[in-house]
Amino acid sequence: MGVDYDQIAPNYDRHRHGGGPYLDSLVEAATGVGARRVLELGAGTGANTAAFLDAYPCWLIGLEHSRGMLEQAKGKQISAKWLHASGTNIPLLNASVDFIFACYVIHHIHDLAGLMRECARVIENGAAAFVTCPHDFIERHPANQYFPSFARIDKSRFQPLSEIADAMRAAGFQDIREKAVTAAPVHIDHAYVERVASQFISTYALLPQDEFQSGLAKMREDVEAKGRLDIDMVWECAIVWGTFTSRQA
Ligand SMILES: C[S@@+](CC[C@H](N)C(=O)[O-])C[C@H]1O[C@@H](n2cnc3c(N)ncnc32)[C@H](O)[C@@H]1O
Repeated sequence: MGVDYDQIAPNYDRHRHGGGPYLDSLVEAATGVGARRVLELGAGTGANTAAFLDAYPCWLIGLEHSRGMLEQAKGKQISAKWLHASGTNIPLLNASVDFIFACYVIHHIHDLAGLMRECARVIENGAAAFVTCPHDFIERHPANQYFPSFARIDKSRFQPLSEIADAMRAAGFQDIREKAVTAAPVHIDHAYVERVASQFISTYALLPQDEFQSGLAKMREDVEAKGRLDIDMVWECAIVWGTFTSRQA
C-alpha cells in the first residue's frame, strides 16, 4: 500500500513546511559546485522549492510525479519552472543542470540504480543531494513506544544510507558524503498529538488503523496526564550527496 499524493495534496501544507535542518547542507552542496541550474525531484507542493530558492537564488525546475501536488505548487508564487514527470525518466537534455536535490522522495523510488543513472545523465559537472530518514533515527523515534509497527514500516520503505551511496557510486558519482542533522527539540504536547492525529507523516496512515487509533489514544492520555511527554521530539534527517563529472566527448 502506498501514499496517494493526489488525494492528500490539498491538505499537505497544513502540517508540513519547507526548510528543515537539511537546508544548509543542500545550499553547501549547491555552492560547492557553483550551481546555477537546479533541478528538484519530487518537489511536492513546492515548500522546499521556495525555501531553497530563498536561501540560494538560482534558475530552478521543480519536477513532480503527482498532478495534485504539482497543482498546489503551481498555485504559489514560486519563481520555478514546473515539470510533471518521474525522477526515473527526466524529460531534460543530457548535461543540462548543475545540481539536483530531493527531500524525502527517494524512498518512493524502488529503482535507485535507474534514478541515479538518470541524475548522472542530466548533470553537467555538478552534484546531487538526497534528503532521507536514517534507520537509527527511525529506531529511536518516540512514536515506537505507542505504535509497535512504526519502525518496521519505515525501515522497510526508507533505504539504508549505504544503499543510496552505493547506487550513486555505481552511476559514477564521486566524493560521496553522508551527514545527519537534527532540528531543535520540540515538546510532545497537545499540539504535537494533533499533528499525529492528522497523520502529518505518512507512516501513521500506513499503520494498521486499529493500532494507530489505540496508540494515539494512549499518547493523548499520557500527554493529558502531564501536559507533555517526558521526552522531546528531535527530528533527525540525513543527506547523502556526491559530485558528478560529465565525460568529455
Ligand atoms: C514526502 S513527499 C515530499 C515532497 C517535497 N519534497 C517536500 O519535502 O515537501 C514525496 C513526494 O515525492 C513525489 N514522488 C514520488 N515518486 C516520485 C517519482 N518517481 N518522481 C517524482 N516525484 C515522485 C510524490 O508525489 C510526493 O510529492
